[in-house]
Amino acid sequence: MISEDVIQRVKEENDIVDVISETVKLKRAGRNYSGLCPFHHEKTPSFSVSVDKQIYKCFGCGEAGNVITFVMKTKNLNFPEAVKLLADRVNIDLELDHDNDNKNNNFEKLYTLNVESARYFFNCLQKDDTAKKYLINRGITEATIRKFGLGYSIDRWDGLIRHLKAKRYTELDMLTAGLVIKSQKGSYYDRFRNRIIFPVFNYKGKVIGFGGRVLDDSKPKYLNSPETSLFKKGINLYGLNFAIKNNNSRMFIIVEGYMDCISLHQHGITNAVASLGTALTMNQAKLMKRYADKVIISYDADSAGQMATLRGLEILKKAGLDVRVLIVPQGKDPDEFIRNNGKEAFLKLIQEALPLIDYRINVLKNELNLSDSDDIVKYAEKTLEMLEELDPLEKEVYIKRLSEETKIRDQALYDIMNNKIQKNVKNSENMNTDNIFGQKLYLEPAYLKAERGLLKLMVNDNNALEYALSTIKKDELIMDSHRKIFDYIVENMQFDENEREKRIESRCDDIDTSKEWVNILETNLVYDEYDYENMIKDFIKGIQKYKFEEAKKELINKIKRYESEGKLEESLKLAHELIEIQKKIGGIQ
Ligand code: UTP
Ligand code: MN
Repeated sequence: MISEDVIQRVKEENDIVDVISETVKLKRAGRNYSGLCPFHHEKTPSFSVSVDKQIYKCFGCGEAGNVITFVMKTKNLNFPEAVKLLADRVNIDLELDHDNDNKNNNFEKLYTLNVESARYFFNCLQKDDTAKKYLINRGITEATIRKFGLGYSIDRWDGLIRHLKAKRYTELDMLTAGLVIKSQKGSYYDRFRNRIIFPVFNYKGKVIGFGGRVLDDSKPKYLNSPETSLFKKGINLYGLNFAIKNNNSRMFIIVEGYMDCISLHQHGITNAVASLGTALTMNQAKLMKRYADKVIISYDADSAGQMATLRGLEILKKAGLDVRVLIVPQGKDPDEFIRNNGKEAFLKLIQEALPLIDYRINVLKNELNLSDSDDIVKYAEKTLEMLEELDPLEKEVYIKRLSEETKIRDQALYDIMNNKIQKNVKNSENMNTDNIFGQKLYLEPAYLKAERGLLKLMVNDNNALEYALSTIKKDELIMDSHRKIFDYIVENMQFDENEREKRIESRCDDIDTSKEWVNILETNLVYDEYDYENMIKDFIKGIQKYKFEEAKKELINKIKRYESEGKLEESLKLAHELIEIQKKIGGIQ
């Protein structure tokens, strides 16, 4: 059994839009995304994915579900297999949770250990004048120290160990959290000694690891937590927990270092995040895409920084972000620049940030010698390749510019470009074609709606639940999935609404139940006056009516058969039953 906490973590870290985008081309429409439904054949999109609710729903064929359901259905997997696949996708270690089946979740323990350590480092900093002075000298204010929880690890081998032992943590816990190192002889010592400590938060603001900087020029400049089950390289961004707050512009600025990020925040550029010196990954790009449409990348201008920039740009673009490149003058890093020139000057750099294509052209230009005719041809060819992805208007602008620079006639440039396109006939982007599950006629029977409505009322309101329990039994429901959900609701009513819904959702571990759960949540109950008793009565009538109708159909069939077989007596008996049922149906209306 995979624990509920892990299922929730898997869901939280696998954004449904990202996962679905891997197989379905989605277009943004407000807070939602829409596309061609992968579950039935269609030409106009009726498949909708909600970012906020993390669910999908097709208005054409009625399919619905969450990220796990989607994977189950499209990859034909069962629940644990789908969870495993999604866990792997974001580097969550399911085994780790399995091995320690103590109820106190492993992750929670690591989190609290990290928080305890962060507090300890913070207090050490407050008590150490030299370390404090280091930060103050770099222009960091007390408020910033508090906001980012900056700390200091004292110059001892066991400062943290002693502190945590006193709090009853074991050295093994500390090792798992990456806070200590085990020596060859088997003794433990603090990983971070005599360093400024930067706690690393995940996007929810939980401490997942640490970075530690020396106070002088010694090497290595930074030490970081090793990979742990919480701290994974390339799936997090430093500062994101702050940057996503009030980010109405849906724009981020990506810098390389801790200090760059902190410094920008201190100067009021609060949408800065840091990739912490490693190359950007697709996971990070997708994480940003949840909160932003545009990113401005501001890496060091040195050539390593430039390479990292180019790689990062590709990934960001692939994730569907509008990418710009900010160049800090005189090779300074953002921290130095904003400290010397202030917020307004930095905002101006943001304004002047180059579109991706211009940046690429610039890099190319710097590599070539444009007074050399071979290089001019190369420059033109490579630039034209880059321009292929632009829309026609943009193309025209850039081709004009290229023509002026290279003195090649723009008609010639167009010819070169068109020849290229003819050569590499592009693959069709219609990803839906090979994923047709057959056409369905989507007509929802009334009983379905009645059962959903009933369950919706039950999960919304404890009084309604009580009334429902006294009026209808689980087994009277028609859909299997609804019976399951009925139980889950009853089991989870003691939790507040949010928690209740989450828990129920984690229990819905087959496609049908998960789909129905989404449909129930999405059910809009229409009422003038909130009168759950009457509504429940109506829903129950709807369910009964369906059952009678079904019985009626069966009777009619039987009667026909008896008649054709000449069994008149039997058929007459059934005819009486039919009248009874007919009466019952009539009575319901
Ligand atoms: P930088 O060398 O640009 O450092 O590395 P910085 O952030 O500007 O730090 P200051 O201003 O010198 O104090 C950028 C990032 O690369 C990672 C760190 O995350 C750092 O913030 N890095 C760098 C390491 O992990 N280890 C290192 O030894 C160096
Ligand atoms: Mn720096």
